[in-house]
Amino acid sequence: MLKREQSDLLTQTGPGTPMGRMFRSYWIPALLAEELPENDCPPVRVKLVSERLIAFRDTEGRCGLVDEFCAHRGVSLWFARNEQCGLRCPYHGWKYDVTGQCVDVPSEPEASGFAKKIKLQSYPLVERGGVLWTYMGPPEQQPPPPEWEFITVPPRQTFTSKRIQESNWLQAMEGGIDSSHVSWLHRGDLNSDPLFKGAKGNQYNLSDARPVFEVVESPGGLYIGARRNAEEGRYYWRITQWVMPAFTMIPPRGNHSVHGHFWIPIDDENCWTWSFDYHPVRELTDAELAAMRDGKGIHVRYIPGTYRPLANKDNDYLIDRAAQKAGRTFSGVEGIAMQDASLQESMGPIVDRTKENLVSTDNGIIMARHRLLRAVKALTQNGTVPPGVDLAHQKVRSAAIVLPPDVPFTEGAREALVARPEVAPASV
Ligand code: FES
Ligand SMILES: [Fe+2]
Repeated sequence: MLKREQSDLLTQTGPGTPMGRMFRSYWIPALLAEELPENDCPPVRVKLVSERLIAFRDTEGRCGLVDEFCAHRGVSLWFARNEQCGLRCPYHGWKYDVTGQCVDVPSEPEASGFAKKIKLQSYPLVERGGVLWTYMGPPEQQPPPPEWEFITVPPRQTFTSKRIQESNWLQAMEGGIDSSHVSWLHRGDLNSDPLFKGAKGNQYNLSDARPVFEVVESPGGLYIGARRNAEEGRYYWRITQWVMPAFTMIPPRGNHSVHGHFWIPIDDENCWTWSFDYHPVRELTDAELAAMRDGKGIHVRYIPGTYRPLANKDNDYLIDRAAQKAGRTFSGVEGIAMQDASLQESMGPIVDRTKENLVSTDNGIIMARHRLLRAVKALTQNGTVPPGVDLAHQKVRSAAIVLPPDVPFTEGAREALVARPEVAPASV
């Protein structure tokens, strides 16, 4: 349970809010590179942490993220012409480059220097692993660009998608570190989804629905260990990584690709769920890529031309009561991603955390909230750089491993929790 003020503090990320300042300490995924496919292509609307922005790729291939509205009289630059290294507002022709600098005000004599005095708010965009990342904090505190493993492996080894989620970022992220719901909500999918089925670990998941949670602080966030019984008194450990504020990595299954999410606020009532899938040591097969594009695993099918899921709030997520009754899916909603999203959105845009009744399997969530609250306080009061900014904190992996009963997972899985190039993930 959280007090109202604590919940407000963590869920509000607009300009000037403490948690908004924290999100602005990190490089966050802003859009897929495929959304700006070529030089001078149409500009794209991007809303992040309650700021309305426009992304574009100019004639030279430089990308920029600038304030959505023209400095003259506020027209949305989504309507702009992307031409000759800048966005030209179609109303009266003012033009801006990728840094937001106004470079032309056609009505004013060039000698007046008027354009030079006009600059839109702008943020950098860098491309890494098919994703365009932005940093929205003070320029003098800009950290080096991100180095998560899924964006540093060769392109054939990785696949990333995004979908819009109609809930606050925090309840979405809390689903990502809640390993205990897998034995329930996703039980039908463990044996049928092409990106999950066949792993030995699935049987441990399905046969022991009372995992014991052990949560330990990591340099960037938390190791969330969920222990289930394996053979001969040994334990099957699933260790989720959470790196502050919004990176989660699900433990792998067999030789399937490893996956995880970023949960990035659009505003206080919507977020982007970024879903990545990669294999540290092998290329993804055509069948795997086809399944990911078809919305299997943690990905979704879309309404064509959008990143909104085909199954969504307006059609009750296409719930199939017959499948629910027969147990083909536990909730009646198809697909792991929408099983999660449907329930998280059903809580309302911002869940009322003053009314929860948390149990021991919620330990990861409880500790993540406390760690966030602590980091926000340290940042606000002392300017302390929050965990997760340091590139070393990003070199992490989740793990699924069977250990003897007397070996703590932090010891038995120590090596497995670090991302090391060319080293296979620890997976059962
Ligand atoms: S409103 Fe954009 S140029 Fe006038
Ligand atoms: Fe889930």
